[in-house]
Amino acid sequence: MNFWDQRFSEPGYKYGLEPNAFLCQQAARLAPVSQILVPGDGEGRNGVWLAEQGHTVTSVDLSEIGLHKAQSLAASRGVRLTTHCVDLADWSPEVSSLDAVVLIYTHLPGAIRQLAHRRLARGLRPGGWLVLEAFHPEQLTHASGGPKDVDMLYTPEQLDADFAGLLAPVESWHGETRLAEGPGHQGIAHVTRWVGQVLAAPGPEMRS
Ligand SMILES: C[S@@+](CC[C@H](N)C(=O)[O-])C[C@H]1O[C@@H](n2cnc3c(N)ncnc32)[C@H](O)[C@@H]1O
Repeated sequence: MNFWDQRFSEPGYKYGLEPNAFLCQQAARLAPVSQILVPGDGEGRNGVWLAEQGHTVTSVDLSEIGLHKAQSLAASRGVRLTTHCVDLADWSPEVSSLDAVVLIYTHLPGAIRQLAHRRLARGLRPGGWLVLEAFHPEQLTHASGGPKDVDMLYTPEQLDADFAGLLAPVESWHGETRLAEGPGHQGIAHVTRWVGQVLAAPGPEMRS
C-alpha cells in the first residue's frame, strides 16, 4: 500500500469536505460546463465541488483509496465524477482536450515536477486555465501541513519556469494564509499560488 493509500485509509477526510478557498476564488474564470482535470485530487473535495458547479470533471490520483472516497463523496452530492488511478510521473492528458487543470497541494518531487507540469499544461486548449496552490519552502517553519522535504515544495519562480512558453502567468505569488482544511491543513501556512492561461497559438508569420 502506498503512502497516500495508507493516509486515506484513516477514517474521515484528511483535507475536509469543503473545496480549497483559492480554487473557489479563481473558479469565476472558468466558462460554464468546462472540461476540467484535477490531478492529485485525493479524496475528491475539489473535483466534487467543481462538478457541483456544473463542470465535467476528471480526477486522477495514484491513491485508489482516495479516489474511492472521492466517488462516494460525488455520489452523496448527486454529481458525476470520472476518476482514474495514475502516476503523474508517467501520465499525460490528451493534448488540447481540457479547459482547465486544477492542482491543489499536488506536491511532486523535483525530479518529475517540471516534466509532469508541462505535460499537464499541454492538455489545455487555447484560452484554458491552470490554477495551482501548493506549499512554499518557507512552510518548513510552520506546523500547519505539507511535505517536510524542500524538494517537494514550490516557489513561484520554479512554476514560472515550469510553464514558460506554454502558459502566460496571471498570478504568481507566495505568502501567508490561514488554512482550515480538515485535520491535514490547519493554521497559518506559507503557500505559493500560481494561475496561468494558455498562450494564444502563434500566427503563421510568428512560426519559425
Ligand atoms: C496533499 S494531498 C492533496 C489532495 C487534494 N488535492 C486536496 O487538496 O484535498 C496530495 C495528493 O496528490 C496525490 N499524488 C502525489 N503524487 C502523485 C503522483 N505522482 N501521481 C498522482 N497523484 C499523486 C496523492 O495521492 C494525494 O492525493
